[in-house]
Amino acid sequence: MNPENTSLEITKATSSAIGEVDFDNLTFGKYYADHMMVCDYKDGKWQTPKIMPYGPMEMQPSAKVFHYGQAVFEGMKAFKDDDGKVWLFRPEQNFERINKSSKRMAIPEFPKEYFFEALKTLLKFDSKWIKSGDGNSLYIRPFVIATEAGVSASPSNAYRFMIICCPAKAYYSSPVKVTIAQEYSRSADGGVGYAKAAGNYGAQFYPTNLAKEKGYQQVIWTDANSHEYLEEAGTMNVFFRINDKLITAPISDRILDGITRKSIIALAEKEGVEVEVRRIKVAEILEAAKNNELKEMFGAGTAATVAQISGFEFDGTYHELPQVENPYSVHFKKALQDIQYNRAEDPFGWRYAVDI
Ligand code: COI
Repeated sequence: MNPENTSLEITKATSSAIGEVDFDNLTFGKYYADHMMVCDYKDGKWQTPKIMPYGPMEMQPSAKVFHYGQAVFEGMKAFKDDDGKVWLFRPEQNFERINKSSKRMAIPEFPKEYFFEALKTLLKFDSKWIKSGDGNSLYIRPFVIATEAGVSASPSNAYRFMIICCPAKAYYSSPVKVTIAQEYSRSADGGVGYAKAAGNYGAQFYPTNLAKEKGYQQVIWTDANSHEYLEEAGTMNVFFRINDKLITAPISDRILDGITRKSIIALAEKEGVEVEVRRIKVAEILEAAKNNELKEMFGAGTAATVAQISGFEFDGTYHELPQVENPYSVHFKKALQDIQYNRAEDPFGWRYAVDI
C-alpha cells in the first residue's frame, strides 16, 4: 500500500516512542524516530525501498558485514526553523559521499531518487521529532551493510541500505581536550581513510580509550608514515588558527572530505579570512603555541558541528590554548547555524527545503 504516492513501499508506525524522549537532555544516538528506511540489494539490483516502523531486524550470523566489515555510513542533520519549516544541509554531498565510500568497499552504488525520496518521506512522517531552536536537530544516519550469508572472504552479493534518525544536540557539550597521535594511525596512503567505512571508526576506539584514560576525549591523527603532519580527529576535521590565519589539512585518500569542513572554508574565505589548506606539521603548532601565536584549534563535523578545542597534549606536555576574544570557532559556528536554521541568507545554496 502506498498512500503517499511515492515509489516507496510504506508501512506506518501505529504508535510513537516520542513520549519517552527527554529532548532537553539528549544522549547522542540513544533514541530513534518512529520510522526507518530499508532497501535490499539482490539479484544485481536495488529493490523497492521500504519505509517501516523503526525496530530490530533478523540477519544470518554468517552475514558478511559481521566478518569482513563491509559497511559504510553517513551523518546528516535536519533542522527546523522558527516557523516550523524543515531543512536539510547540503544533502547531495552526503549522497555523493556515501556512494564514494561504497565504491571503495566494493558495495554497489545507491540510486539518487531512492535516497532523496526516502529522506523526504522519513522527515515528513517523523517531523515532530525535529525540534526547533539552536543546537536541536534530527541526526540522520544512512548506512549500508553486506547481508549475504557466507563467510568466504569476497564481496557480498546482497546488501541492505538503511536510514535511521535520532534527535540530537551537538556531540560535544563543552570544549574538547585532545592528544596528538604519535604511535597509532587512523589511515594510510591508498587506504580507506577518506571513506566513511565503519571500520575506520571502530579501529580508533582502542587508541581513543587510551587517550580518554589520560583525560583527552579525542585523538588528532597524524600521517602514518612520519607522525609529523596533523590530519583529522576521530569524529571531525580539524582547524588551526595561527594569529588570524585559518589552516586545515587538505583532503586526500587518508582524510575525510568533511562537509562542515568545506562549508567553514567557504564561509571564512567569503569573509576575507586568510585560509590555508595545506599540510601542517605538529612542529609548526608547537612553535606557534610557544610564541603565543596559536590562537585556536577547533573541530568541524556534522555531529560535532564546530567543537572548540581547549588544549592539546603532545609528547607528555599539555598545551592549554588561550581564551581569545571573538573566537573563530564561535563566529563560524553561528554563521553556519544561521544558514542551517534559516536565520540568514544562503548565498551558497546549501539549504534544502523539505515539505512536511
Ligand atoms: C558525523 O559527524 O556525522 C560522524 O559521522 C561522526 C560520528 C562518528 C559521530
